[in-house]
Amino acid sequence: MELQLEAVTKSYKSKQVLKGISLTMGAGVYGLLGPNGAGKTTLIRILADVLRPTNGRVLYDGKDIRTVGDEYRAKIGYLPQDVRFYGDFTGRDYLEYSAALKGMEKARAKKRIEELARSVGLWDDLKRKCAAYSGGMQRRLGIAQALLDDPEILILDEPTSGLDPYERIKFRNIISAYAEDRLVLLSTHIVSDVEHIAARIMMMEYGTIQHIRTGGAYVQMMEGKVWLEEMPAEQLIAYQNRAVISNVRAKGGRMEVRIISDTKPVPDAVQAVPTLEDAYLYLFNYLPERAGR
Ligand SMILES: Nc1ncnc2c1ncn2[C@@H]1O[C@H](COP(=O)(O)OP(=O)(O)OP(=O)(O)O)[C@@H](O)[C@H]1O
Ligand SMILES: [Mg+2]
Repeated sequence: MELQLEAVTKSYKSKQVLKGISLTMGAGVYGLLGPNGAGKTTLIRILADVLRPTNGRVLYDGKDIRTVGDEYRAKIGYLPQDVRFYGDFTGRDYLEYSAALKGMEKARAKKRIEELARSVGLWDDLKRKCAAYSGGMQRRLGIAQALLDDPEILILDEPTSGLDPYERIKFRNIISAYAEDRLVLLSTHIVSDVEHIAARIMMMEYGTIQHIRTGGAYVQMMEGKVWLEEMPAEQLIAYQNRAVISNVRAKGGRMEVRIISDTKPVPDAVQAVPTLEDAYLYLFNYLPERAGR
């Protein structure tokens, strides 16, 4: 199975928010990272076939998804970034209704609803109105909805927003087990959501996918660019306008500051083992010379 973008652009009036994206995805987990406004949701909505590109095409196994139509939509599970629940629907009503829309046979739907409600930790809450669920519970209900019909292509827009750390770990486990022979694309702001489960991580900014690499390749790129330095707390405030700081922790009466820099920032700085989050900070935003953009 292959999903391919061919020079996809999207413009709103005169503003181009996707600038000619071409890429090919096969089975496996793809993580989509990028700052607010990068174009992640726009790209995801085009892949989910709820938004038309201005130019370019999306091909599923070589065929334009606009001509494949319903048959394509039947193969995808999609969790939008913003799902609102309202009315008197219980969690179970919502999942049954979603299953009916997907044309699932009743007995199979019942079985899948039980399986998924258990795996996302909502089994005991299915009788409650989903409008009254907490934010994290609503997100998990949305994840269950996307997985209902065992889609070949699973597209999740910020699935983990609002999930507590325990639910986040459970989510990662569900996704890595699921993705074996399927395509999963998920956007997130939480680097650790995709660090260990994504075969490929895409870094997106200004409507372009700037990098597609393995998590390991990003980490390798950061070798020799991450430093630890101790300083008094007062110094930190001034320092953060000059350097990219990826973390700070209290150590005795001083602060241990994690700094991203191509060269040794101060003589007594020591090298640290890099992470994907360091790479994210290095590649986006946060270099002082790019501040104020
Ligand atoms: N319907 C719309 N009309 C006009 N502009 C839009 C519309 N939808 C999105 N945009 C613009 O397109 C750009 C990309 O938005 P998008 O929602 O795809 O970003 P994102 O990467 O998903 O951001 P976030 O991390 O905040 O979810 C933004 O500048 C946004 O304002
Ligand atoms: Mg978004």
